[in-house]
Amino acid sequence: MTDQGATTKRIFSGVQPTGGLHLGNYLGAVRNFVDLQSDYECVYCVVDLHAITVWQDPTKLADQTREITAAFLAAGIDPKSSIIFNQSQVRAHAELGWVFNCVARVGWLNRMTQFKDKAGKNREAASVGLYGYPVLQAADILAYLATHVPVGEDQKQHLELTRDIAGKFNNDFGVDFFPMIEPLIMGAAARIMSLRDGSKKMSKSEASDMSRINLHDDADAIANKIRRAKTDPQALPGAEVLDADGAITDAFAKERPEAANLVTIYAALGRQSLHDVLNDLAGKSFSDFKGMLTERAVDQMAPIGAEMQRLMNDPGHIDTVLKDGAERARGIADPVINQVYDIVGLLRA
Ligand code: TYM
Repeated sequence: MTDQGATTKRIFSGVQPTGGLHLGNYLGAVRNFVDLQSDYECVYCVVDLHAITVWQDPTKLADQTREITAAFLAAGIDPKSSIIFNQSQVRAHAELGWVFNCVARVGWLNRMTQFKDKAGKNREAASVGLYGYPVLQAADILAYLATHVPVGEDQKQHLELTRDIAGKFNNDFGVDFFPMIEPLIMGAAARIMSLRDGSKKMSKSEASDMSRINLHDDADAIANKIRRAKTDPQALPGAEVLDADGAITDAFAKERPEAANLVTIYAALGRQSLHDVLNDLAGKSFSDFKGMLTERAVDQMAPIGAEMQRLMNDPGHIDTVLKDGAERARGIADPVINQVYDIVGLLRA
């Protein structure tokens, strides 16, 4: 038996450089990346190989990669204690991805809802890379023998697949090499919805920029987007719309999705429970509430946006961070891929 080398708890997570980050990415993922640094060894990756599963303009991709890196730094990820790098600089991702292509089953990938959503109606025209996307994601995580993966709720199915791949690899080769990862999907902020339609996820790919608050938005843009966010004619509810676990009931979220979403954002920004927030907000009008929400959002987000701008003016510094991170990442991932090759019987002469 070959035992896996991971004795410490290790975090891995990734973000695609397919456009700037929005409030959903921040509250659902990046802010948690920052918080986790004090308790774990953390590896944070800008997944540029994933980005090219749909066409990216080569003249823009490098800057998009720098922009996500700037967002990581501006949000408070410390490049000295955590590892920050872009995926294509560490060959183990693609190499382990190939091995996992031979472990994962077509039937498993056929069940992936993100592929169905992203490929749309014309599935035949989607890239093979888009189909195999979750296999590369499993390789990202397991190349570091990571144990915990902080993500938003939309990544849950991909992390289940990662567990399946790890389990099948261990089983097929009679080893206990890859760990069973634990997803860290934290609270209501793991699913932030569009400002224009509370039943749709806030997303980079949504055509209307009014649907999301971007990390690079300035105070005026943030205020304008909140002012124009969709609402309903009723006053805000109280804590009676929460279930026994303190979560908004499905019935309320279905009936008043925009109210549920804005209240969730407000609570998450203030790191408050929904219970405390709704006790304060009960009976308030949307116009009063929107003022409070704007103040909170601007207070928290505008400084991050300004710091991002400052960092983007010094691409040389960002590249140094990525180069140093990639070196440290290779220090972990190279021995893992070498062991995988040995387990599989691939000759390293
Ligand atoms: P990506 O780039 O789409 O999103 C980055 C992170 O943001 C979360 N997120 C949200 N959270 C709350 N509300 C939303 N509306 C929202 N939209 C996005 C995502 O769940 C994610 O955590 N496949 C991944 C990237 C990836 C990865 C990995 C993640 C590649 N390899 C390995 C973890 C581990 C993705 O497309 O994320």
